[in-house]
Order: sequence, then structure tokens, then C-alpha cells
Amino acid sequence: MTDIPWWVSESFWKKIAIWVTAGAFVTLIFLTFDSLSQTSAGTRRVPAYTVINQQLDYRKNDQTGRFQPVIGDSQPLFGKVYSAAEAEALVDLGKKTVQAKNCMNCHTLLGNGAYYAPDLTKAWLDPAWISVEMREDMMVKFLMDPENNARTFGSGRKMPNLGITEREAKGVIAFLKWMASIDTNGFPHNFTSLESEE
Ligand code: HEC
Repeated sequence: MTDIPWWVSESFWKKIAIWVTAGAFVTLIFLTFDSLSQTSAGTRRVPAYTVINQQLDYRKNDQTGRFQPVIGDSQPLFGKVYSAAEAEALVDLGKKTVQAKNCMNCHTLLGNGAYYAPDLTKAWLDPAWISVEMREDMMVKFLMDPENNARTFGSGRKMPNLGITEREAKGVIAFLKWMASIDTNGFPHNFTSLESEE
């Protein structure tokens, strides 16, 4: 009994279990901080919320062949330039409205959600809003009363009235504008923005 090989001994496997658990724990902590640095607002790919004060576009980068957001000059939202705290509060209201009304039940956001209705990642840049001047007003009207302001994309599907107030609609629009500024590594591909069309 005394000459069992070291690699089948109980104490060896106990040590292995402890080291693997400790190693996985350290790796998870590292990955958590790494993910936060890639996904928090105000980092390289995800602009700060004050980006809602700026003009946006989404264009193909000729070197990489990938579509990427282009952040331009000042473009106030609803005629206002928001401070960092105001911008965060407005985007936060929009995000909470999107969660409360369960938009992902029909739409995808950054590719996540359901496939009944169009992806909302670049909805702010959709040429269906007709012109940059009309966009904000059309979006508010559509979100507050989609049934009477529907612009069907040929699918014949309709968005139901979700009882969104004007304040919530403005929050949702700020959230959508901010989301359109995120560098999503080329997703969606081949998208013609309202700005590029004009
Ligand atoms: C029951 C399904 C459903 C839910 C829930 C829903 N939508 Fe929609 N939505 C649709 C459909 C269908 C369309 C396409 C309407 C059309 O073609 O006229 C649409 C269109 C849109 C558009 C226009 C898309 C574009 O690219 O121009 C926006 C913006 C939008 N929805 C936002 C939202 C938001 C924000 C929520 C949550 C507050 C939401 N939707 C919840 C079904 C839904």
C-alpha cells in the first residue's frame, strides 16, 4: 500500500483542486476588469454619455473594410447641450424604459434580443427618419404612438403602443443615439446612415 505512485495520492489531487480553483479565481478577476475597461461608458469603444451632444455617422473604414462610428461636431439633442450628469441621467432613463417595456422581446440591441422587429443598434442613424431636421420629432411621435406613425419596412408588422411618455421617449432616443456611437466591431455591416445619404 505504501508504494502507490504520487500522482494518484489524495493529497496531490487536493492540492491540484486548490490551485485550479485559485487560478480560475484570479483569471476571472482579471477578465472582469478587462471586460469593464472595454464596455464602460467613457472607454475606447464606448463613448461617454455626453456623445449625445454630438453629430454621429457610421461609415466603412477603407483600410479595415469594417464599418465604424464617426463622431463629429456639436449637435445638441432636443436643442440642448447636456452636462455629463444630465446626459447620464437621460440615457439612464432611456435604458430603464427599454428594460421596463421589454423592447428586447421584439428587437435586438447590439445583436441581443428577439428577431421580430429591426435591430436597434443604429436606429438613430436610420434613413427612415427622412432628414436630420425631422428625426428627433419623428422618433418621439413614433415611440409615443407607433400605431399611427408606423413606417413599415415592408414586413407588414406593427409596433404596439407601449404607453411611453414624452419624457421617456426622449430618454429612449438619447439612449439610442448613445448606442449608435458604440464601436461594435463592424456590426451591422453594410448599413447606410441618414447622414451618409444626405
Ligand atoms: C411587440 C413587438 C415590439 C415591441 C415590444 C417593441 N417594438 Fe419597436 N418595433 C416593432 C416593429 C414590428 C417595428 C417595425 C415597425 C414598422 O415597420 O413600421 C418596430 C420599430 C421600431 C423602431 C424603428 C426602427 C428603425 O430602425 O427605424 C424603433 C426605434 C423602435 N421600434 C423602438 C422600440 C423601443 C424603444 C421599444 C421598447 C420601448 C420597442 N420598440 C418595443 C415591434 C416592437
